[in-house]
Amino acid sequence: MRVLGISGSLRQDSFNSGLLRAAAELLPSGVELEVFDGLKEIPPYDADDDVAPGPAPVEALREAIAGADAVLVATPEYNASIPGVLKNALDWASRPVADNVLRGKPAAVIGASTGLFGAVWAQAEVRKVLGAIGAEVVDRELPVMQAHAQFDEYGNLREEDLRNQLAEHVTALVRATREKVPTA
Ligand SMILES: Cc1cc2nc3c(=O)[nH]c(=O)nc-3n(C[C@H](O)[C@H](O)[C@H](O)COP(=O)(O)O)c2cc1C
Repeated sequence: MRVLGISGSLRQDSFNSGLLRAAAELLPSGVELEVFDGLKEIPPYDADDDVAPGPAPVEALREAIAGADAVLVATPEYNASIPGVLKNALDWASRPVADNVLRGKPAAVIGASTGLFGAVWAQAEVRKVLGAIGAEVVDRELPVMQAHAQFDEYGNLREEDLRNQLAEHVTALVRATREKVPTA
């Protein structure tokens, strides 16, 4: 099974990208997580540019999603909502509507913020958007609050409890994917 990780942060030392790396370590055997690295190249959505084929960075995103059995989004929270670059990428991925690459795709959302609430609003909004696009969204959240204190110098999560929660979260995504795609 292949899971595509999408971090909603472009920052080199992003805690959300770190969360995806931590998730990759916790996956059941036979499951691989690849992190999409082209978010920064995706242009602002413009319906005039949304022709087939779309801009190369958009096609790269669509191909990465299409080639994955499931998607795991790690989102920061910007002003109580989804970072613009992530929403923009999801908007591109949502077209064409009828057979967009996220339709029917199992998806889960996690999130880290330096505040006290662990990006729960952003996570809720990403789940809403993914659901509107047609993904099959796992109905759970993983709030990672005060993210600056959660990782050690090697990028590992310090707290066993948080590692366990993350493992449960990705296991729920894997289970949902296997129910849908038994051979994955
Ligand atoms: C424009 C902007 C808005 C932010 N708004 C929020 C917010 O509403 N709630 C919150 O908990 N953190 C907020 N933060 C802090 C982010 O949680 C913090 O920068 C976090 O580390 C971003 O994730 P990253 O490490 O993956 O880049 C904001 C940061 C920026 C740059």
